Formats: sequence, structure tokens, C-alpha cells
Amino acid sequence: MQQLVEQAAPPGADFLPLNGTDYVEFYVGNARQAAYFYRAAFGMSLVAYSGPETGVRGRASYVVQQNKIRFVLTTPLVSEGPIAQHVQRHGDGVRDIALWVDDAESAYRETTRRGGKGVRAPETLRDENGEVRISAIAIYGDTIHSFIERRNYCGVFMPGFKAVEQPDHVARPVGLKHIDHVVGNVGWGEMNKWVEFYQNVMGFRLYQHFDDKDISTDYSALMSKVMANGNDRVKFPINEPAEGKKKSQIEEYLEYYKGPGAQHIAMATDNIVDTVGRLRDQGVEFLRVPVTYYQELERRVEKIDEPIGKLEELGILVDRDDEGYMLQIFTRPVEDRPTLFFEVIQRKGSRSFGKGNFKALFEAIEREQASRGNL
Ligand code: FE2
Repeated sequence: MQQLVEQAAPPGADFLPLNGTDYVEFYVGNARQAAYFYRAAFGMSLVAYSGPETGVRGRASYVVQQNKIRFVLTTPLVSEGPIAQHVQRHGDGVRDIALWVDDAESAYRETTRRGGKGVRAPETLRDENGEVRISAIAIYGDTIHSFIERRNYCGVFMPGFKAVEQPDHVARPVGLKHIDHVVGNVGWGEMNKWVEFYQNVMGFRLYQHFDDKDISTDYSALMSKVMANGNDRVKFPINEPAEGKKKSQIEEYLEYYKGPGAQHIAMATDNIVDTVGRLRDQGVEFLRVPVTYYQELERRVEKIDEPIGKLEELGILVDRDDEGYMLQIFTRPVEDRPTLFFEVIQRKGSRSFGKGNFKALFEAIEREQASRGNL
């Protein structure tokens, strides 16, 4: 059963206060082209660049942004080293889910003394716009959380990057506002280990959970727990595969990503019909659910503001709980490996993650898995 687990915040002050997600960094095979994809398809604007021209050797990074959503696309310029190894092993994928903090030193100290594995000791980066303090710890797989403190910085991103001054004529914004949640896939039996990590090391609490009875089809199953930080601005659902008749979508991910990693990033909009219409026009490919989904929709979710015909035309899903409803849609994987994908979400009161849609959705994912010969 889905449960809103209104677990009380742990006693004492939040030892890891978070202002939100600062950016998500992807390690990719070709950052210039990946940046073009996020600009042209998702409507993000190129705002900053770092590479040999800015005095950074061995890598190039493009920062693209839409409202509060910021992606950094980084590629290695050499065939050796950790970035190249990450790309070789995982394909294009998320390296860093960076969190915005007021004190990067304290974030590092508090998390590492609770068992977090440090990957970057606190460091101060400076340029003419001030200073950014940064530190980082490891999470599942080869993924990390950087802690970014930027209260003494007024530049566009961070030292080492130069602002792109001219307006981005490629980007056609689609109304994506902020990151709602980032989901991690972890290995068999590892979900609770990572739930405990977020509880003990990061001071998060259990927000919702789903078991394999909620999330199973004839073929595949998974279990999921949603972790939230003290002020609920940051939510990380953690999935693990569960035993099903055939290979689950989580197993397919783990096989192709070669281990745990970020499965999807959900981006919020205030007008999902408009946003998804624009994304489709710009070439973003979404999962399709069968027409039967819409025949039952009105009975299932009752009165909603959006015309059901329009939702059906665009393939948008709806789910309701006692607090309101939410609308959501999922893209197909955005690389050739069936790994990372995106969700577009609009919340109208509901804090849920769309349990009522899981079955229809997973059947749609399985059709795609079958077409790849992986079911
Ligand atoms: Fe999601």
C-alpha cells in the first residue's frame, strides 16, 4: 500500500539544511551535442561554459538552465581519467545530484561523521564574482551529492565557468520550473541500505513507500521508498527490483547502467498540457499508455480541470489522493542505453508519486523492453 508516512522530523535541529537542488551534472560522451539536445528539445538555455578556453584542462562543461532547473553536461577531452571511465562504464548518465546549502563545510562534516564517504573535502573556488564553497560525498553506484554554498557568489554559475552573454536562440522554453524529485535505482535487496543512508547520514525521513503489490504487473515488480529532507524541498525515491515472472525494468536499467544510478528526474510545470505539447513539438518522445487508460480515467479521478481528450491526445496520466490530484508523463530513455529518462509533473494538491498509474505505466515500459528483446 502507498502510505504517506507522516514520520516526525528527527529530534533536534536539521543537521543538513538544504535550500533545494543546485544542479544535476551528467557525464556524457559529447557535451556539446548533449547541450544542444537539452536546449532544442527541453528548451533549456545555455548560460555558462567551462573548458580549455576558461583554463580548465581535460574536460568541457556546458551549463543549461530553465527557471530553477540547472543541468551541467560534462565530457572528457582525454581518454583516461574518472570522467572517461564513468562514460565508458555507464554511458551518458548522472554523476552528481548537487544540493544547495548555506554551509558546505558543515554539510561535509555532519554527513561524513555519520558515515558518509567523502569524495571532495571542502574547498573554496574564487573568481571576480566572489567565492563558491564546495564539498561532496558518495551515494549509490558512482553517483555523488556535491554540497554547494554560493551565498558569497554573484556570478552565473561558479568559478571556472564563463557566462554565455548572448541570448540562446536555440532554446524555446517550455515552462519547466524546478526539480520535483530524482529517483535512484539500486541493486537487489539494497533499498533499505540506501533508505538508512538518507536517514542516518543525510537526516532525511521516510515520506512514502510502495511495495511490490503496488508496483507489479504480470512480468515485473519493484519496491520503492521515497525519502524527503527536513523542509521537503528535496525528495529522493529509491527503487529496487522485486521478483517477477520476467526481468523487471529496474534490472534492465542495472544491467545497462552497470550498477545503481539515477533512473529519472522529475521536473515540475504549472501547465502540463502546454509544457508537454511544446516538448512533443520539439521532438521529446514520451511513453504511450493504451487508450483504455482514458476510458476509466474519469471514474477513477473524478472531476479535474483539464479536458480528458487533451490528456489522452498528449498521453498525460492523472492520479488522485485525499489531498488533490497530480498529472504526470514520462519520456522514453534519452540515450540509446535504456537508462535515464525524465518525468514532467504538475501537482494540484497531491503529494503522491502516481501510484494509480504504476500499472499502466509499467505495462507501457514493458512493451518497450520487449521491443528491445530485454523482457
Ligand atoms: Fe517520478
